[in-house]
Amino acid sequence: MEQLAVLGAGYVGLVTAACLAELGHRVTCIEVDGRRLMALKAGQLPIYERGLPELIWGNAQRGRLFFSDDFGEIADADAIFVAVPTPSGENGEADISFVRQAVYSLIPHAKRGVLLIIKSTVPVGTADRISQLPPVLKAGIEVVSNPEFLRQGTAVRDFLQPERVVIGAESAQAVERVARIYASLEASIVSVDRRSAELAKYTANALLATRISFINEISHIATAVNADIDDVARIVGMDRRIGPAFLRSGLGWGGSCFPKDVLALTSAAARYGCHTPILRAVYEINELQREHAAQLLIDALHGIDDPIVAVLGVAFKPNTDDVRGSPALTIAERLLGNGVTVRIHDPFALVNASDVLARIDCRPDPYSALEGADALLLATEWEEYETLDWTLVRETMRGKTVVDGRNVLNGGHLTELGFRYRSFGRPEHKLNGNGTHHNINGSIPGVAGEGVE
Ligand code: UGA
Repeated sequence: MEQLAVLGAGYVGLVTAACLAELGHRVTCIEVDGRRLMALKAGQLPIYERGLPELIWGNAQRGRLFFSDDFGEIADADAIFVAVPTPSGENGEADISFVRQAVYSLIPHAKRGVLLIIKSTVPVGTADRISQLPPVLKAGIEVVSNPEFLRQGTAVRDFLQPERVVIGAESAQAVERVARIYASLEASIVSVDRRSAELAKYTANALLATRISFINEISHIATAVNADIDDVARIVGMDRRIGPAFLRSGLGWGGSCFPKDVLALTSAAARYGCHTPILRAVYEINELQREHAAQLLIDALHGIDDPIVAVLGVAFKPNTDDVRGSPALTIAERLLGNGVTVRIHDPFALVNASDVLARIDCRPDPYSALEGADALLLATEWEEYETLDWTLVRETMRGKTVVDGRNVLNGGHLTELGFRYRSFGRPEHKLNGNGTHHNINGSIPGVAGEGVE
């Protein structure tokens, strides 16, 4: 058992602290936001993440996990994880002021020779620069880059069953100390220099975003030639060199990471004089997908007085309440600007959505959102939309347009019921009885669903 501290009780910090405690360590999680800390101490989690509450409260009860705002409580820690946000700053570059602040706050309290482990996604060279700060040198603190690859919605599993643990360090001793913390995990340890670890994190996110933007670009070609993007993705994904993950077309990528990381990498590259046409295109295509969906809806509403659109799903993806970078909200804003009434439903993200877009009409269930609606946009593929009663939906809605923003509905069935089904690269001929689109969630073999995303 090691004495550990985690700075920041955000999404990464909470998952890291809870999982490290689950591995048997004694963990103190420092959170300086008074409201967040009070909520945590009162047993309320600020985020929705499957499996996390059990882990947090279980380990808190066992006396292995503590929350505090007092940096004095890190005095015994052998290693301190920094998991504070690095939001988009000027020109899209990552703003590392929270990281800097965290480092300066901990130095007076940390014990000599402590390991400082950077979990936050930081620009390449940040760990090197921190290690050269005079107070860090003076305290004999060794700085390590240990990027995280957690996905919201499956973060606990991703932490406890990682595909790799990346340790960017400058001494074998530091590598060995970090590896010891993760020793009970069955994971490949990849030991590299700090800069490569930092760049690998950005590269992973940018490459995943690239795959999605690429398949979205191809989806427009599929529409033009009446081919089926799901089949195309399935076929190319069967090539082991390509693989099936992250090839589902639709509204594109959102969240708190891809948008900020693609921008940060692009801006950092520009500062080094590197030309990055791919990264720029990846971002632009993603913006265009949202624009394309909004335009599909606006066209469908042409000539209708006081049009209403129901948006099902506003979280940036299922199994999270996070609406950061949510395509649904961008589209909703565009529709509101065009005089459209927008009603939304989401099983978990309504509160967060109304914080961002106050003018939005939040509804407690999908059917209430659909009442009298002229068009429906399915923006997040929550499992509960799988069991919508489409006959009832047809009776509830005023219009017949369904825009399937995630290519997960059974387009053939909806067409038979009289809906005007619009998708992202699924062909017309399959809507006319010559084939069928697959159902929501995981039924597009090798493309959507568990284990492939
Ligand atoms: C992403 C990475 O997948 C994690 O490895 C990384 O640790 C994390 O960012 C981070 O940097 O913290 P996350 O933002 O939770 O994780 O979400 P993803 O599951 O990667 O999905 C991102 C977006 O891509 C979602 O909006 C999703 O709907 C979209 N997506 C995903 C598609 O449009 N098509 C696909 O085929 C897959």
